[in-house]
Amino acid sequence: MLELTPAESLRQAERIEGAVHHDRRHDSAHKHVSGEAVYIDDMPEPAGLLHVYLGLASKAHARIRAMDLTAVQAAPGVVRVFTAADIPGHNDVGCDGRGDEPMFATNLVEFAGQPIFAVAATTRDEARRAAGLAVVDYEELPAVLDIAGARHKGELVVTPMRLARGDAATAIAAAPRRITGRMSIGGQEHFYLEGQIALAIPGEDGEVTVYSSTQHPSEVQHVVAHVLDLPSGAVTVEVRRMGGGFGGKETQANFFAAVAALVARKTGRAAKLRPDRDDDMRITGKRHDFEVEYDIGFDDEGRIAGVDFTFAARCGYAADLSGPVTDRALFHGDNCYFYPAVHMRSEPLKTNTVSNTAFRGFGGPQGVVAAERMIEEIAFALGKDPLEIRRLNFYGTADRNVTPYHQTVTDNVIHDLVARLASDSDYHARRAEIRAWNARRRWQRRGLALTPVKFGISFTKTEANQAGALVHIYKDGSIHLNHGGTEMGQGLYTKVAQVVAEEFKVDLSRVHITATTTGKVPNTSPTAASSGADLNGMAARAAARTIKERLVAFAAEHWRVAPEAVRFLRNRVAIGGQEIPFPELVRAAYTARVSLSSTGFYKTPKIHWDRAAGRGHPFYYFAYGAAASEVVVDLLTGEYRVERTDILHDCGRSLNPAIDRGQIEGAFVQGMGWLTTEELWWDAEGRLRTHAPSTYKIPACSDRPRIFDVRLYDTPNREETIYRSKAVGEPPFMLGVSVLHALSDAVASVADYRLCPRLDPPATPEKVLAAIEDLRDRAGRGSAAS
Ligand code: MTE
Ligand code: MOS
Repeated sequence: MLELTPAESLRQAERIEGAVHHDRRHDSAHKHVSGEAVYIDDMPEPAGLLHVYLGLASKAHARIRAMDLTAVQAAPGVVRVFTAADIPGHNDVGCDGRGDEPMFATNLVEFAGQPIFAVAATTRDEARRAAGLAVVDYEELPAVLDIAGARHKGELVVTPMRLARGDAATAIAAAPRRITGRMSIGGQEHFYLEGQIALAIPGEDGEVTVYSSTQHPSEVQHVVAHVLDLPSGAVTVEVRRMGGGFGGKETQANFFAAVAALVARKTGRAAKLRPDRDDDMRITGKRHDFEVEYDIGFDDEGRIAGVDFTFAARCGYAADLSGPVTDRALFHGDNCYFYPAVHMRSEPLKTNTVSNTAFRGFGGPQGVVAAERMIEEIAFALGKDPLEIRRLNFYGTADRNVTPYHQTVTDNVIHDLVARLASDSDYHARRAEIRAWNARRRWQRRGLALTPVKFGISFTKTEANQAGALVHIYKDGSIHLNHGGTEMGQGLYTKVAQVVAEEFKVDLSRVHITATTTGKVPNTSPTAASSGADLNGMAARAAARTIKERLVAFAAEHWRVAPEAVRFLRNRVAIGGQEIPFPELVRAAYTARVSLSSTGFYKTPKIHWDRAAGRGHPFYYFAYGAAASEVVVDLLTGEYRVERTDILHDCGRSLNPAIDRGQIEGAFVQGMGWLTTEELWWDAEGRLRTHAPSTYKIPACSDRPRIFDVRLYDTPNREETIYRSKAVGEPPFMLGVSVLHALSDAVASVADYRLCPRLDPPATPEKVLAAIEDLRDRAGRGSAAS
């Protein structure tokens, strides 16, 4: 055992319990595992509660000729049926009030699964059974279901974005080597454990309170008001926690909340809506699937000269967040690489499928996957290690650090981070060892890949980069904390509480975390873009600082000392020569009529973005990371396993390393699932057939890497973020890309590493097997051409 020096032990004793930069469990961890954490469906049900269920369209594109709901209305237990005609305000639950997402379809159905009515009954079972009794007469219309069909039709949901720097066409044409290709990238279902749910309770004078499982309470509030024709002030939205959101509750909660609120408003009774998992999957948007076309020019070393990317995305029937999602794909089409000349464009395509939405990484992962395919193509064309090509093209200094959107990368740590990971994971030796091993095997192959990530932090919609908080101190010295961020398992509440505890130098147990509500902090942004702690941590610190300044001023005056002589120590305050417990100071301040409550506000500095010009500084900073994954593949079945993953990830100076490690592990596994076993499948009629865990395969605990080594790249953020930490929610999702490339490396062995496997995600065992066969075929034909 190491002995602490006296100075060290003093420092330890002075460190509050739950200090920033220290491991601390999630505030609800014990309640998550014991089942005591209260989710909306666990709340005690109000007397007279009505249960609501939904009637969904069965066609992807159709006119509704007639709808007969008499059997629904007459079913046992049914209290009332609701259609668009019952909506007092606007039949619109879309974000940004764009008006393209009706709450209930009226005469036009635009995707199979679109809600057309709701039914309220005394029990949930009765409501569910009744919903199935509707008779709808459809006149079917031609449906556009996939990207190919949508490109043919050419209808877009938002204006596309274009990014350009230099003359890409000329650079590509002039380069010694050129590769063109295309790849498809699959979508993803969020599979939050707690499904969508809302409970609405009517109040006096038309007021309504909605408990909603949402990442964006302020938007739910706004949408409910819009639908019910109420001022926002009459609507309160509250959420203590979600059982996962992953972007799937950034806008998708609006609809469920609005339906519950409509029923509550019209019946004067509390109303709850919780769809089945299958219906949740049919009704709500997913990660966008993409088709990417690439045209790249490079030299014999593998240095990129010019890049042209087209990112076509299936957006579904409405815009939702498809504009910013497809924009973010372009923003990450460079990943960590400098493009001397570049041209990228988005195609946000309209289809008769559910409207796709935010999902961890928000389009960024699709951009990163495309960039990594490009690297792989170059490596195979030149017979080099993809890692060598990656490093050769990393953003550098001075003349090699400008992004396609004209922001200069000034905080690049990827060279050092990748060098450390390559060394810690023994990348080069293992790569050689794996090749030798593969040469001796007939039915099994191993593969290894190390892929990097650079992820831009900030909402590209500049106005969203603001946050508010509210802090009270009660007379007994206990602290009440509230802010606009929502808790979805990521540990935001714990981190922000640590910040406030640190500010007052009191143990974390004295800071009481409270549910997010529009009644305490108004006009908040969604908890998204990984910026929850950056924004709300700063806002809460500002609120705490205001109160602290008042306490200091009071103490200085009351005890007649200089303000500098008032110092906050662990759970107590030094005032000149004396020390008093923190609660005593609070009590004295109260007695002297000092306000012990404050709001706090924060807005991210330095950022701006001109979308039309494709220029600006959209990101405050970048978060970096890298992963090295090794897989083993069965050549007979295409099945595989991840044997080992080493991760080095940059969280700046982590606010809470334990929580950040959890975020990295979870994000990696979720990213890996997206690129491997998770496959969404629609039939020829546009009906989603993978709408339950029986057919949609998320990774199980047993699918995690057998050896899983996660480390933090512990260096302070160069920007002045909260305690110099970095956002962590989304960036490590893209570390899962290493598994796709490890699979590709294993597959490539069947053609002696001469051909690029072009393994498109999701690389299901079926697709891996097909890639193996395709590669053998191509090798057999002796076509080395790609
Ligand atoms: N972690 C858990 N456990 N559950 C979630 O739903 N959502 C992710 C990420 N980590 C999510 C999660 C997504 S999509 C985002 S944008 C961030 O958390 C949001 O929270 P933050 O901004 O506080 O990191
Ligand atoms: Mo996360 S996709 O920004 O909610």
